[in-house]
Amino acid sequence: MRIGVAKEIKPQEYRVALTPAGARELVQRGHDVVVERGAGAGSQFPDEHYEANGARIGTVDEVWEGSELLLKVKEPVGSEYPRLRPGLVLFTYLHIAADEPLTRALVESGITAVAYETVETDDRRLPLLAPMSEVAGRLAAQAGAHYLERPKGGRGLLLGGVAGVAPGKVVVIGGGIVGYNAAVIALGLGAQVTILERSVDRMRHLEETLHGRVSLVMSSTLQIEESVRDADVVIGAVLIPGALAPKLLTREMITGMKNGSVFCDVAIDQGGCAETSHPTTHDDPVYDVDGVIHYCVANMPGAVPITSTKALTNVTLPYVEQIADVGLAAAVARDQALARGVNVAEGKITYEAVAEAHGLEFTPLEDILGASAV
Ligand SMILES: NC(=O)c1ccc[n+]([C@@H]2O[C@H](COP(=O)([O-])OP(=O)(O)OC[C@H]3O[C@@H](n4cnc5c(N)ncnc54)[C@H](O)[C@@H]3O)[C@@H](O)[C@H]2O)c1
Repeated sequence: MRIGVAKEIKPQEYRVALTPAGARELVQRGHDVVVERGAGAGSQFPDEHYEANGARIGTVDEVWEGSELLLKVKEPVGSEYPRLRPGLVLFTYLHIAADEPLTRALVESGITAVAYETVETDDRRLPLLAPMSEVAGRLAAQAGAHYLERPKGGRGLLLGGVAGVAPGKVVVIGGGIVGYNAAVIALGLGAQVTILERSVDRMRHLEETLHGRVSLVMSSTLQIEESVRDADVVIGAVLIPGALAPKLLTREMITGMKNGSVFCDVAIDQGGCAETSHPTTHDDPVYDVDGVIHYCVANMPGAVPITSTKALTNVTLPYVEQIADVGLAAAVARDQALARGVNVAEGKITYEAVAEAHGLEFTPLEDILGASAV
């Protein structure tokens, strides 16, 4: 198959959808890989590394027009809409339930678009979102430690303490993938860590994997109120699938926190879990609400593109290989998780929540790809 790798043109996006190692795997399987000039530069993968591993370097036109399968990281932006076309399979993060102009552009173009974020296993895991949650969780703990420093506006506390001086207290709300990873790094820095969770099963799992090194507490309004009052760093890491984040922290709870403490709202990409949260960028990541530093960057993994690119391509490559080896129709027939990723097939919306969100027609995937699937 002819596989293209597009350069990301969205501001502040330094990731790329395929590493040179991934290109090598695809080339070895007999595929033709064309990488847009400079696509890997932001992740420190120069063009020569792709060429050395069997890929060709091409122009933006060659990549978009000459490919059967196009790999990207972020959704197409407005200037890329005219490049969408029938016969192309696009594999990328799309998030189109919240983006009507892009949904319409995909439908009108007749393209087939597979969204990383809706590839979902039978046990309801989202394997192509998980690595970004791992990165964001780990970064959240680092951001907490960083902004606690006095010159950064924080309380002036070393999170890990030293011999004879108590460590700082980190409260993580939500013990899923983000919460677990935030806790691991906070523990590694020497902090005292509490996780507030709602699921007893998840707490049992965390108890086992973290070997009792964190306090695990049932999440309730009262418990959150009491825990954050005493915290130096609070990390918001809740998720209710398919919904906006619940506003678990009221303005009063936030203003009741210690002066110079840090609140890192990782759930900001789902609207944030505090009344005081609003999205920020890597250029201007924090703001102050009554002495509490708010870090609410909506695309945290963008800060560490080398790690994020490798973590993302580790999980996308097996799906890319499936699509490239047998074609999309046969690949989705074999793998239900991948089938759930198809949002648009030949210009028809095949993901029910997307059709509902925009009041557009829904067409079952098998009606379009079924006939040709093996
Ligand atoms: N800002 C970023 O760059 C970035 C990057 C990745 C993920 N995220 C976001 O981080 C959030 C967490 O993602 P995840 O992958 O860890 O999700 P997850 O589903 O693995 O974990 C969420 C956890 O929250 C728990 N929870 C739900 N309601 C709760 C409540 N009231 N109190 C306590 N716990 C509660 C759930 O039981 C679950 O264990 C999501 O909103 C996700 O979109 C943001």
